[in-house]
Amino acid sequence: MGDLGRMLKESWSLVEEHQDKVAGYFYARLFLSNPALRDLFPVHMDVQRSRLLDAVVRAVQTLEDPEKFDEYLRALGRDHRKFHVEPEHYEVVGGALIEAMRQYAGEQWSVEYDQAWADAYATIASKMLSGAEADTNPPYWYAEVVAHERRAKDIAVFTVQPMQPLEFRAGQYLSVECPRIQPRLWRTYSVANAPRRDNTLEFHVRAVGAGWVSSALVRRLEVGDMVRLAAPMGTMNLDRRSTRDTVFIAGGTGLAPIKSLLEELTRYNRTRWVHLFFGARNREDLYDLAELNRLAARYPWLSVVTSCSDDPTFPGEQGDISEVVARYGPWSEHDFFVSGSGPMVKATLKTLAELQVPSIRIKYDSFTDF
Ligand SMILES: Cc1cc2nc3c(=O)[nH]c(=O)nc-3n(C[C@H](O)[C@H](O)[C@H](O)COP(=O)(O)OP(=O)(O)OC[C@H]3O[C@@H](n4cnc5c(N)ncnc54)[C@H](O)[C@@H]3O)c2cc1C
Ligand code: HEM
Repeated sequence: MGDLGRMLKESWSLVEEHQDKVAGYFYARLFLSNPALRDLFPVHMDVQRSRLLDAVVRAVQTLEDPEKFDEYLRALGRDHRKFHVEPEHYEVVGGALIEAMRQYAGEQWSVEYDQAWADAYATIASKMLSGAEADTNPPYWYAEVVAHERRAKDIAVFTVQPMQPLEFRAGQYLSVECPRIQPRLWRTYSVANAPRRDNTLEFHVRAVGAGWVSSALVRRLEVGDMVRLAAPMGTMNLDRRSTRDTVFIAGGTGLAPIKSLLEELTRYNRTRWVHLFFGARNREDLYDLAELNRLAARYPWLSVVTSCSDDPTFPGEQGDISEVVARYGPWSEHDFFVSGSGPMVKATLKTLAELQVPSIRIKYDSFTDF
């Protein structure tokens, strides 16, 4: 770790145990110095503390070498246009952040710490700003919900029709917000179809525990609602030049981006064998099985293996999908795509490492932190 990185970590450790107070001070400072900024943030900041402070602190500390994260930061800056963030806001946020830390660090805070945070923040902000400036897309697209189907207690599949064309690549995800139900709360969801001529996009959403947005999208979204969509992101794409057979491994609604890639393959694939492993806790959560079986019947190159980890009478495989994959194979010459919750992705990557699959052949999207 370089000097700058050490200094950032050292100084954060001075305030870390007062995180809530730092956050309180940061937002108070931010909204006092620029009251109009309050409108950019979620309504219930008291209940769901805004994600901004955590995100900035994490970014400043982990992106020690911003050059390495150039594309990520440019994309983050482009994405911030959906929040109505303007260039002049960056300075206000940076200033409030440093002031909040200074306030709670006490006497141990130093001018060097001040400078370290200011420098790191400025480098990151300038990359985000240049990404935002170079973007020719609208900051977001409006789209109308044209179909909404509950496929399981906690799972819905819905389709939206964007008002203007929205280009994306199979396997990508984008942020979604529903102004009627949860204004200014954006969450990322994978598009579950390959690009279509009619521009519609399908999403597979699972309501998780105390989650704010997903449960609203599953239980309260209706046909006719308008949602906003931000620019597509993500690099879990198919390499058309690859001639390798392919293994898709999906847990729950992690099926969404896999389905998108599969749909793309149905348009041109003649030569690659494709194995899809789809796992869930119980059979109800294998919410798209009918469609997968239909695809497998139509495309001889596709095989589908299903598994339940918590449904002892399920007639398919039993166990976590990460373990089930290892019962098949050999997999040494395949391309892999993995998608699902953090623990599911982590367990699957571990299995693949044990099977000696080179990491360069694996692409994955994790829905939550590991
Ligand atoms: C690249 C990417 C693509 C994604 N694609 C999809 C998709 O296609 N379909 C889909 O359903 N979701 C997808 N997600 C997850 C989605 O963005 C949300 O994080 C998730 O649905 C929870 O949002 P929420 O507003 O309901 O919960 P939040 O309000 O964000 O979280 C509330 C609480 O629930 C916890 N929590 C969040 N997620 C989970 C979880 N999965 N299991 C258990 N606890 C959780 C949080 O830690 C928090 O304590 C994707 C995430 C990423 C990063
Ligand atoms: C170094 C500069 C910054 C970094 C690294 C950064 C990073 C992030 C990240 C990673 C998120 C979470 C994204 C998500 O959940 O979709 C976020 C959310 C957000 N950011 Fe930034 N950001 C920066 C500057 C700013 C500025 C200047 C503003 C303007 C006020 C801003 C406003 C927001 C808002 C409104 C949210 C959503 C908050 C929420 O949902 O609770 N950000 N930021």
